[in-house]
Amino acid sequence: MRTPVFAANWKLNHGPTDARAFLQRFISQTPRQSDRTLLFFPPALSVAAVVDAARDRPDLLVGVQNVHAESHGAFTGENSVAMARDAGARAVLVGHSERRHVFGESDEATGKKVRLAVDAHLVPMLCVGETLEEREADATEAVVLRQLTAGLSSLTDTEVASITLAYEPVWAIGTGRTATPQDASSIHAVLRAALRERIGDKAAHVPICYGGSVNRGNAESLLLSPDVDGLLVGGASLDADGWSAITRSAIGR
Ligand code: PGA
Repeated sequence: MRTPVFAANWKLNHGPTDARAFLQRFISQTPRQSDRTLLFFPPALSVAAVVDAARDRPDLLVGVQNVHAESHGAFTGENSVAMARDAGARAVLVGHSERRHVFGESDEATGKKVRLAVDAHLVPMLCVGETLEEREADATEAVVLRQLTAGLSSLTDTEVASITLAYEPVWAIGTGRTATPQDASSIHAVLRAALRERIGDKAAHVPICYGGSVNRGNAESLLLSPDVDGLLVGGASLDADGWSAITRSAIGR
């Protein structure tokens, strides 16, 4: 019912020249796979280069890592949903932990961005996740459910069914510390249950990806865990060969 998603979050890496070279190499190693969705989140300045380099591969989709919470106006340095769509993006990360914790993005802003994204026909990948402190205080479920509720607050049930979620425990991002497949599965099940409460059976359509120090060694065991429908990968997506290998992981369904 859900197509597994492999999403590369390049963060502040790979400008247009690198991005083109990456795509060339990646494409040469990665045959089309109709049973999964492949998504690249390059920096905004490299979106056009990735779209262009992937023009003969409609199976490779491009997204932006962030958009502004207003649609236009005097916001120097920002990018809007309409601009992202115009540049060829089809998806947008919203509420990534670095946006929340490094740039101070609020729950309210994530809700606005999700709304704008859906209106612009971009699929929002809403990221939720707890810090180490929150985990140690046994607040994981409360935190991810609060972030989920805020992020989806302005969507209709049908719209909720069209988004993608990512569970990314903050303590696992870029630290080499991964959640165990069991940890990931148990939070994914909590998110799935909350979605079911909100939109009933349509909850089965929403892919829930895991992110946080995913690499070639742990990708398959995560993907084979119940309720883990894909991966959102930072560091291990920066190398074309390595990322190609991860996107060819067994998905067992
Ligand atoms: P990481 O990043 O794979 O480098 O831990 C994941 C992310 O931030 O999306």
